Amino acid sequence: MPAAPAVATATPTPTRSASEGTLDLIRPQPYADWAPQATPEERATLRRELEQGAVLYFPKLKFHFQPGEERFLDSRYSDGKSKNINLRADDTAVRGAQGSPQDLSDLYTLIRRYADSSELLIRTLFPEYIPHMTRAGTSLRPSEIAGRPVSWRKDDTRLHVDSFPSNPMLGKRLLRVFHNIDPAAPRVWRVGEPFGDFAQKFVPRTHGMWPGQAALMKLLHITKRRRSEYDHRMLQLHDLAKADLDYQANVPQQEFHFPPGATWIVFSDQLLHAAMRGRAMMEQTIYLAPQAISDHTHSPEAVLSRMLGRPMLVS
Ligand SMILES: [Fe+2]
Repeated sequence: MPAAPAVATATPTPTRSASEGTLDLIRPQPYADWAPQATPEERATLRRELEQGAVLYFPKLKFHFQPGEERFLDSRYSDGKSKNINLRADDTAVRGAQGSPQDLSDLYTLIRRYADSSELLIRTLFPEYIPHMTRAGTSLRPSEIAGRPVSWRKDDTRLHVDSFPSNPMLGKRLLRVFHNIDPAAPRVWRVGEPFGDFAQKFVPRTHGMWPGQAALMKLLHITKRRRSEYDHRMLQLHDLAKADLDYQANVPQQEFHFPPGATWIVFSDQLLHAAMRGRAMMEQTIYLAPQAISDHTHSPEAVLSRMLGRPMLVS
């Protein structure tokens, strides 16, 4: 296993803001419907921008509560052990929640409706993805981000790309649909430089796996399945970025405030992002098989394969 990067303890303070830099990864969209009427040309542009690592931002695409559902903005329905209330794709009940049987049933209805809306949005905008996509988890996060005591590795107020220690993706992409359901407070993110620039700085500091490591980690239930070199390198990139406070403060980046009622779509395994402040949001994850991606320049798999001189999608 590679040595852990030096551990930094303080939350970084960015020294640049959008107004100072030229980085602008936010692409505002006019659509206000979860099944948007976009032309083929508009859809092609959206797909190109998404696959290049931009944020597709829908300021008018609001997810509506049904009467009574506003009560779930309160964090008391969280069970206190997990930061999210979540729903797995094939489950019929939420996890991480507490409340009466009626509350739990209503939470399921709310979160399931968000999952259906998000999937409809992706299917409508990106019909080419439909044969390659799998619905994954949906979550309701009813707690303030700022001030949460977490270890540096779990500190999502530091710029990072998403990667999971125990759940190797084997090249599957992480497409995520976020929504700010807080009625008053913005969701504040920082987003950083393109993945290719990020990789140039950190991939040379990553290591491959030693022989037998992937099989051993699976045997010991450290991972759910054999970890691929792709996952191994992506996980190190996640950790190296979070541990490097100088990088956090000085990398080209922009801060963006997603207002109440806004929706945004990103590849969270590609976009450098940090969630700084915000009280309540919903999120849908969709796994996308690697062959769905038409851009062979900007994806993490393409960048890593190019830099390391061999294909990444063999375990
Ligand atoms: Fe993240």
